[in-house]
Amino acid sequence: MLNIAVMVSGGGTNLQALIDSIADGRIHDAKIVRVISNKKDAYALQRAEQAGIQTAAVTRADHPDKKAFDEALLKALEESEAELVVLAGFLVVLPEEITRRYKGRIINIHPSLIPSFCGEGFYGLRVHEEALKRGVKVTGATVHFVDEGCDTGPIILQKAVYVEKNDTPETLQRRVMEQAEWKILPEAVELIAGGRVKLNNGRVEIL
Ligand code: GRF
Repeated sequence: MLNIAVMVSGGGTNLQALIDSIADGRIHDAKIVRVISNKKDAYALQRAEQAGIQTAAVTRADHPDKKAFDEALLKALEESEAELVVLAGFLVVLPEEITRRYKGRIINIHPSLIPSFCGEGFYGLRVHEEALKRGVKVTGATVHFVDEGCDTGPIILQKAVYVEKNDTPETLQRRVMEQAEWKILPEAVELIAGGRVKLNNGRVEIL
């Protein structure tokens, strides 16, 4: 049984996709042991509570000192005894102590086809605004391992989504979630839980 900690900042629809996939058997042999948020009022925390999952809020308000905040995040993770950390809309860049400690055991979902529309500042609606501005005809989502960089780690799964003529950032964001994010994030967790994801020279091999 793979113990998972999920880190969130917002609505938690990707967390919900994981909860539902575990409940209906699309993910085997994995359990969400804790949901950690940097926002006390994140709706994701309510989703976790409704599913009977332990929660922890680690906020900057409670830890104005950045170092103390980073330490509290690491402590919340370590206490959970999670073997895999899933960033599901977590809007904090992880400190190096965490990326080092959990090397190869942290994954993130990003709402574009990396390496397009990613890196610093590319989160939320901004990603889709930039995709529309550039006029791409295809976008999508990416699940990748997290390293010290921003959206630079090895890619595990990607799924493409077509841009439609009258898309707004909001309609595109929604379609990318429905058609890509909520599918490939549980798929990636299922692959990892099944021991089917192997790192080879900085690239992912699916067994
Ligand atoms: C998603 O678009 C995800 O790709 C990004 O943050 C958003 C989180 O949405 N990293 P939700 O909180 O899972 O609904």
